[in-house]
Amino acid sequence: MRMYDLILKKRNGEELTTEEINFIIENYTNGSIPDYQMSALLMAIYFKKMNERETADLTMAMVNSGDVIDLTKIEGIKVDKHSTGGVGDTTTLILTPMVAAVGVPVAKMSGRGLGHTGGTIDKLETFENFSVAMSEEKFIDNVNTHKIAVAGQTAHLVPADKKIYALRDVTATVDNVSLIASSIMSKKIASGADAIVLDVKVGDGAFMKTVENARELGNEMVKIGKSVNRNTIAVLSDMDQPLGFAIGNALEVEEAIETLKGNGPKDLEELCLTLGSQMLILAEKASTEEEARKMLEEVIENGSALEKLKEFVEAQGGDISVIDDTTKLPKAKYVVEVKATEEGVVKKIHSDKMGIVAMELGAGRATKESEIDLAVGIVLNKKRGDKVKKGDVLAYIHSNNESNIEKATKGVIENYVIVENYENNIPLVHDIIK
Ligand code: URA
Ligand code: CA
Repeated sequence: MRMYDLILKKRNGEELTTEEINFIIENYTNGSIPDYQMSALLMAIYFKKMNERETADLTMAMVNSGDVIDLTKIEGIKVDKHSTGGVGDTTTLILTPMVAAVGVPVAKMSGRGLGHTGGTIDKLETFENFSVAMSEEKFIDNVNTHKIAVAGQTAHLVPADKKIYALRDVTATVDNVSLIASSIMSKKIASGADAIVLDVKVGDGAFMKTVENARELGNEMVKIGKSVNRNTIAVLSDMDQPLGFAIGNALEVEEAIETLKGNGPKDLEELCLTLGSQMLILAEKASTEEEARKMLEEVIENGSALEKLKEFVEAQGGDISVIDDTTKLPKAKYVVEVKATEEGVVKKIHSDKMGIVAMELGAGRATKESEIDLAVGIVLNKKRGDKVKKGDVLAYIHSNNESNIEKATKGVIENYVIVENYENNIPLVHDIIK
């Protein structure tokens, strides 16, 4: 088999066989196929697309490029949750203790973030001394004892995706449905989950800008999951404005703690209840959404979800005193009000650009090597549909560097679209694909 012929075949819009896809992934991962040929193939896939069978084959070829985690020693149905990525998305920190408190085992492999704010692990490191380094045995033990553990992804999990994703990132071939679906699903399948709930974000702060595109991606991933016996559900949720109010690591941790105490932003709480309900159904803890939702509302009301967060953070060495006293979380030196310069109704908050403002304050990594400042970020005070008067506070900037405040202020004002009249009619959840 020659890579040249396979590039030509896809360029001409033909279908690749299972053997051909396996050949490509195996030989690109081991270095026999060079980046320039893989780049050409990715661009051909981008324009000519892959069908369902090719996408499922690509997913499994990627899964088999590295280790597959065996979680069979964990009792119960392991349900994983994955978000396709948004701005100020704190759901994992809230959702995982909620479902664990109901008794669903959560065995999560997570990553560090490259983007607007840190990833789940960066955020968890806000708890001093929290560690994700542990043996597979200890990880399994922790899940059996506490129902929840978060570990760092090993380097041997889907190495094909690491190489291909890095190449897609620099060749303008990220936003293809088959490539995104296989990238996400290969990692979930290799992580050992029995069932998967996907939060597919829709809007200008997400990969998928329209509901139609998000639906296509959701459908594709649900089909891949089912084809390999992993029951999968996709929730299409709004990312046309940041989720909750906080964008930044310690700020989001505080928001997560407040939500577990029952005092969180309504949209964030609602999305956690929606995703959590689907997780309970897949785990066979509840048979209807109504029943599942009641169980989740109860663990917030009776405090057991918050207790679960403490139990889990403590089991991984983290300081839990900040959970009772959030004033002990890392704080920025400067907290500055950003005031509205016009009157009207908020029609839109450009999530993506708002995320970049937070990143430039130091909340996220611009490159893999950047250091994150846990304390900084943005806290929104007005959201879509809110009325504003001139001089009202739109948002607060949390900064450790006086010299970046002026630019951030300008950025926040520019990213609020304020119009005379607007009725907010974008739902938080567009659809649920089963
Ligand atoms: N997230 C992933 O893991 N892979 C993609 O291709 C896109 C988003
Ligand atoms: Ca948030």
